[in-house]
Amino acid sequence: MIQHISRAASVKSTVRLPGDKSISHRYAMLAALADGRSEIRHFASSKDCHSTLDCLQALGVAVSEEGGTVTIAGRGLRGFEAPPRPLDAGNSGTTMRLLSGILAGQAFESVITGDDSLCRRPMGRIIEPLKLMGARLESGERGLPPLRIRGGRLNAVRYSLPVASAQVKSCVLLAGLYAGGSTAVEEKVPTRDHTEIALEAFGATVRRQGTWVEVDPAPMLRPRSLEVPGDLSGAAFFIVAAAVLPGSEIRIPGVGLNRRRRELLDYLLEAGLDLAVENETEVAGEARGDLRVRFCTAALDGPLPPIRGARTAALIDEIPVLAVLGSQAGGGVEISDARELRIKECDRIAALVRNLRAMGAGVEERPDGLSVAGDGRLHGAEIATEGDHRIAMAFAVAGLTADGATRIRDAECADISFPGFFESLAAVSRPPDRRP
Ligand code: S3P
Repeated sequence: MIQHISRAASVKSTVRLPGDKSISHRYAMLAALADGRSEIRHFASSKDCHSTLDCLQALGVAVSEEGGTVTIAGRGLRGFEAPPRPLDAGNSGTTMRLLSGILAGQAFESVITGDDSLCRRPMGRIIEPLKLMGARLESGERGLPPLRIRGGRLNAVRYSLPVASAQVKSCVLLAGLYAGGSTAVEEKVPTRDHTEIALEAFGATVRRQGTWVEVDPAPMLRPRSLEVPGDLSGAAFFIVAAAVLPGSEIRIPGVGLNRRRRELLDYLLEAGLDLAVENETEVAGEARGDLRVRFCTAALDGPLPPIRGARTAALIDEIPVLAVLGSQAGGGVEISDARELRIKECDRIAALVRNLRAMGAGVEERPDGLSVAGDGRLHGAEIATEGDHRIAMAFAVAGLTADGATRIRDAECADISFPGFFESLAAVSRPPDRRP
């Protein structure tokens, strides 16, 4: 599907976000492992989270969904059934990497695969620690999916992550539920800690000490009734739209503000955006609040703060739309230490460079990032999304600022994390005043 985007004067009004994708995956998996029935309200509508639900059903878990609430009849830590066919994680790296940690603890053999994009993403990063824990795994060439996992009783390990990855950390912690002792993971660069928080919410014992996080093997998990907050990564597209379109003002209620992900807000405040958090609360260990964003003339006068080091890891999913924001800032933005972007749903560095150039921005590509020149007025272009949801949504925002029409190819990929994104964007966009 081709999505047409045209220039907007401003964005105004209230944006309703889908449930957070990262949290929904974790709640679904832990609910499936709990002893009893869990209810998860405002479960992500994202396709990726439905890949997780499909895999859980293929493992014998009863799942039902009604009006955004997912009910999961947990089968206990060892109650899954051997799947009759390969599990299909679709486009979802989180499904494959987290579920593999759980499958490594099951007393049966399973195969997990995914779509063409997922089958090009590296799994060596989870194979190594799971093998250290005693699981037997086979993969395609160079650690690529599909994975064949022969699970069973696992050894406790102390594992220092070689790459900043919440998915790898989570995989090891989930496998740790099945280990003979406490399993510890070290991350020198902090990443989102939804797994640690969700494990505690479902009754597991988690300890944090410095750069280490440790989980005890669990005899059982308890079912929960929980509500998922809105997805901050989805909010990012609207925040950037409000930041670049004069006169904009939006409210985004109920957004997840996990301490490791709200770095986005700190970054945008440092960039000078007019952004406020209201009504902040915490539910089951996860912070949430309402966001208010107003256009501020002075915000984009100078370059955006550089994105590098630990900040890159904290903003990893937001970099596509921050690169678009950089194209509108006087002085642009420098993004480095972002090699991981090359192995996301597509090579996001290459996709950003190509599409920003197509819209007339000055961009320099580097192995670990890119430098975007600011100040350039973008012009409409045909956007090659490479089937990557965050590229599609970032360039829809770029299209709102551009002269002439923008055509987003394969725009349906936005459903991976944000079904209804284009409708939501259209609903808050105000057209330019056409009077002379
Ligand atoms: C995620 C972790 C990140 C992120 C992805 C979701 C998660 O991936 O990019 O969209 O839910 O744990 P990595 O752990 O590979 O950095």
